[in-house]
Amino acid sequence: MADSLDSALHAAAERFTAANPLSKQRWDAARQSLPGGNTRTVLFHDPFPLAFAGGRDATLTTLDGATLTDLLGEFTAGLFGHSEARILRAVHEALDSGISLGGHNDREQHLARLLCERFGLGLVRFTNSGTEANLMALALAVEYTRRPKVLVFRGGYHGGVLSFGDKPSPVTVPHQWVVADYNDVSGTRALIREHAGDLAAVLVEPMLGSGGAIPGAPGFLQMLRDEASAAKALLIFDEVMTSRLGPGGLQRELGIQPDLTTLGKYLGGGMSFGAFGGRADVMAYFDPTRNGHLAHAGTFNNNVLTMAAGVAGLTEVLTDAALADLNARGDRLRDGLAALFDERGVTMHASGIGSILTLHFVPGPIHRLEDAAAADPRLRQLLFLWLADHGFWIAQRGFIALSLPVTDADCDRFVECVGSFIDEYRDLLPPQRLRVRVIRGDITEQRVDAIVNAASPAMRGGGGVDGAIHRAAGPGLLAECVERFPSGLPVGGAGWTDAHDLPASRVIHAVGPVHGSGSRDQLVSAYVSALRVADELGARTVAFPLISAGVYGWPRADAIQAGFDGIAASGTSLREVRFVTPHDDIARDIEAALWRATPLRILQAVRALHERGFESVRARPGMSPSGMYWRVSVMAGARDILGYTTGNGSDVVGMDVTAATPAEAVADHLLSLSPGLEPAADAAYAEGYRDLLSLVEENAARPSAFADYFDDSDGWEIGWGSGMRVPHPPEAREDPSQRSN
Ligand SMILES: Cc1ncc(COP(=O)(O)O)c(C=O)c1O
Repeated sequence: MADSLDSALHAAAERFTAANPLSKQRWDAARQSLPGGNTRTVLFHDPFPLAFAGGRDATLTTLDGATLTDLLGEFTAGLFGHSEARILRAVHEALDSGISLGGHNDREQHLARLLCERFGLGLVRFTNSGTEANLMALALAVEYTRRPKVLVFRGGYHGGVLSFGDKPSPVTVPHQWVVADYNDVSGTRALIREHAGDLAAVLVEPMLGSGGAIPGAPGFLQMLRDEASAAKALLIFDEVMTSRLGPGGLQRELGIQPDLTTLGKYLGGGMSFGAFGGRADVMAYFDPTRNGHLAHAGTFNNNVLTMAAGVAGLTEVLTDAALADLNARGDRLRDGLAALFDERGVTMHASGIGSILTLHFVPGPIHRLEDAAAADPRLRQLLFLWLADHGFWIAQRGFIALSLPVTDADCDRFVECVGSFIDEYRDLLPPQRLRVRVIRGDITEQRVDAIVNAASPAMRGGGGVDGAIHRAAGPGLLAECVERFPSGLPVGGAGWTDAHDLPASRVIHAVGPVHGSGSRDQLVSAYVSALRVADELGARTVAFPLISAGVYGWPRADAIQAGFDGIAASGTSLREVRFVTPHDDIARDIEAALWRATPLRILQAVRALHERGFESVRARPGMSPSGMYWRVSVMAGARDILGYTTGNGSDVVGMDVTAATPAEAVADHLLSLSPGLEPAADAAYAEGYRDLLSLVEENAARPSAFADYFDDSDGWEIGWGSGMRVPHPPEAREDPSQRSN
């Protein structure tokens, strides 16, 4: 069914078609002799591919005469731009001295030496593409280790015939692949150990490039180094894209030395290029002076154009300073985009490192492939068409690689253009979600739009956080409080003043109850009132202390949970709530409660469903066999609705569930995951479950109904190792929806 996003895309495609008639004509002609008019899949896009007449520096001219700023940079190969004079001169000289010589030339040893020095390679060999470089490196690893298997990663891309999306592509060459999840330390370690005896190599990009510019976590990459060594498998870093992220590649930035490195793209100065190299004892297998050496053929491996352009690029153009500038420009662009997304309140993220970026419609940071995959792909298409229509060229999938001629002014214009896209399509874009964080520090030092002062009803500045805030803000704060709130504020209420000498912009004074005399509702209300004031002030970031938890004596665990409940109940449009505390133990408790928040909200959602009459819905919380992840499954009779593990963070099958998410919203989500579920009565179960959950909430404890480490026959355990056992709720009755057949 067409929706408004489809309509927007349709209109954008029509504008594109009207603006590019010659590209369309060319495409029609190309289809006579190329399948789909295309000989490089990644360049195809709907409604038909844009074609270029030429390029200069970082500017492209389309067949229809429009000029675009090129931020694609030929997927990193175009680092030098389209007309770098020193490279053109080197290529012309090479042409003048004769092409396709069919013998060795002097330039190849020069380029080889430059690459060996730059990337710390013992020896290196050239190919015509990054794909070939990886193919040869893998063949070498299999031969060297005499083992058949290669570990790669979902989302990894090592060339047209070495492509691993969700699974190896049908055109991927038939090695014995073991496919792991990128940045998954424990899972990958287990796979390497499982296959250790058969594993020839681990092939990895230190940052997933085509897979979404997802940086490899240093600990993950170091684990690969350690485990590959232990398994006596070769670690191959595919730095075809990432070698531009530092003078010695990303490996030198990370301080991790692989056994082999594959290279390509810009290192051939913009000509066809690939290379693989590394440990001299391994690379020596290709030494033709050795008995039984391996052959490595390739008519154009040492072609003079690539060799000349590569040498000129590295010796005359790409100084370390120029490279550092380029990557710093990329970092500034990423920061500028992040500020834009924040300011406009949309869920978008620019991932990557230095000069390589990818635009996503999911919240950052992105660690895993699935994080990036959650977005609607039509949004990327819409952005791509908008940018092409407004003078910018990037990859359809949101990929950007800055080239040397791109300027800061180009980047500023780009940020503005993305801003105009957001303004145009705001209603179609996912809004930004609230982030709840813990900060160990001094609340009076927070540079936020508002800090919350846990005030007394009299608003006169007392002890605890209140006193600290008054002291740091100076006497003006008290004077303003007295003037604005002459009769104070009610318990559970809030009001604002200026921040005076504090670095924050405003102070929101929120009055919490004293434990024993006030109610929990008043405590929740203090948060809700403060957040309402924050919204009225247009604040984006607010720092809270734990209200009522100090001299007012509220038990800490409940004070934390009441804070979360207040945030969830407020429906605030803030971007960030910080809980700030100078105490390690409180910070840890809040952190733990945040971690517990997602599964707790799921358990609370089940109770909310019972209250709506869906009493057949059951929840079962427990620990994974490793004891590392907490799990919860939700079922209705024999039907599984949800299997959640804390290993998935806050993602509950496509919904981001955090401390700030109301349980009711999670209940709606559970229903949407289970179409056709009908209300059904099971009062005994619902009552038993409600009692269990009250205990869980009162004790702020992580409940387990199953785990390897305890005998669960006598019920749930409320709290890790607490020994507090509560009988399982009564067996659920038969699910009526299962009865019909
Ligand atoms: C990481 C990586 N490896 C290998 C390749 C393949 O290089 P080529 O297109 O030169 O075959 C690419 C190309 O995008 C790449 O990004």
